Amino acid sequence: MRRTLVIACTALLAAAAAVAAVAGEQSLTLHEGAGRDLTAGRCAICHSLDYIPNNAPVMDRTGWQKIIQKMRERFGAPISDPEAQQILDYLAGNYAGKS
Ligand code: HEC
Repeated sequence: MRRTLVIACTALLAAAAAVAAVAGEQSLTLHEGAGRDLTAGRCAICHSLDYIPNNAPVMDRTGWQKIIQKMRERFGAPISDPEAQQILDYLAGNYAGKS
């Protein structure tokens, strides 16, 4: 199941431009704030953005840091170090219900 998803993700990366357009639409569902478009663009490559608000109640900054790290290391999310920092700031500032 995971393997299939990762392969599907790799295929999706080839269509990154199209994905970015879709993500732009989906970003409307995320709270306004610095880093929102970047977060929506990167996190919607492989799965729904619902993962973000759905997990918010149990999340704090450390929790999001671990998730972003997991997405990058285990699933190969195409997110650079500076981008990861911006995404972390955005998620910790807007979707950290626990802290
Ligand atoms: C390269 C593909 C990929 C990208 C990009 C990606 N994810 Fe994931 N994500 C996955 C996979 C695979 C799973 C596990 C399978 C599932 O539950 O769909 C997952 C699961 C999750 C989960 C559920 C909890 C968990 O640990 O499994 C959360 C929360 C999550 N992702 C958040 C994010 C956020 C936030 C971003 C953007 C920073 C992101 N993802 C980007 C592939 C990705």
